[in-house]
Amino acid sequence: MTFSPQIPHWGDANNKFSEKLYKYHSWLLETGIKNGLISNKDSQFVWDEFIIHSLYFGKIINELDQTFDSVYDLGTGGGIPGIPVAITNPKNQFILVDISESRVFELQRLKNILNLNNVEIMQKDARSVISNNNLYISRCYISSKDALESIKKNKNTVYIVSSSGEKIEHNKNMFHVKQENFTINSTDIRHIDVITVR
Ligand SMILES: C[S@@+](CC[C@H](N)C(=O)[O-])C[C@H]1O[C@@H](n2cnc3c(N)ncnc32)[C@H](O)[C@@H]1O
Repeated sequence: MTFSPQIPHWGDANNKFSEKLYKYHSWLLETGIKNGLISNKDSQFVWDEFIIHSLYFGKIINELDQTFDSVYDLGTGGGIPGIPVAITNPKNQFILVDISESRVFELQRLKNILNLNNVEIMQKDARSVISNNNLYISRCYISSKDALESIKKNKNTVYIVSSSGEKIEHNKNMFHVKQENFTINSTDIRHIDVITVR
């Protein structure tokens, strides 16, 4: 099936990584679907919803004026958003966490296929890796409300989480919350919340 692999204007800097992004796209369509890491979707959907959506996490990370001990992708599944973000940010280290043994097994193989030296894969409960001074990213694993609850005691911690765009109630003395939205193609709007512990 043909598809149009657009990279939006905010992702121009990612063009130089397009070969690895296409390789990951093919892996999702073959191994990812065959082994249940993603559901059965067409090429365009996989590019837009998984790769372009992930690249926006990378854009937000690059704009953060903060340094962290580690960047974790919690509930990474098929490596979303961690793999596209790691491909396009080779100087940063990423730790991809999932509780599922079979997903972690496939991701280890993918790491070798893509030769990603800046990626570590961990089979763990995501709740066990929350601590101070880290950046957490996640898509379709945790709600913003639960993310606020998870990180409330962790200083210098940021959580970037996909959301439905609904307004979230939070203690403004404890957190700073920035709600971003963007289009993954010309029409479809997606939302990401950036939650910082003050
Ligand atoms: C809906 S999938 C989302 C996967 C991926 N982030 C995406 O956007 O396609 C949720 C993932 O979270 C993982 N998961 C569920 N509970 C978890 C936990 N307590 N700790 C770590 N991973 C967990 C599941 O194995 C699954 O891969």
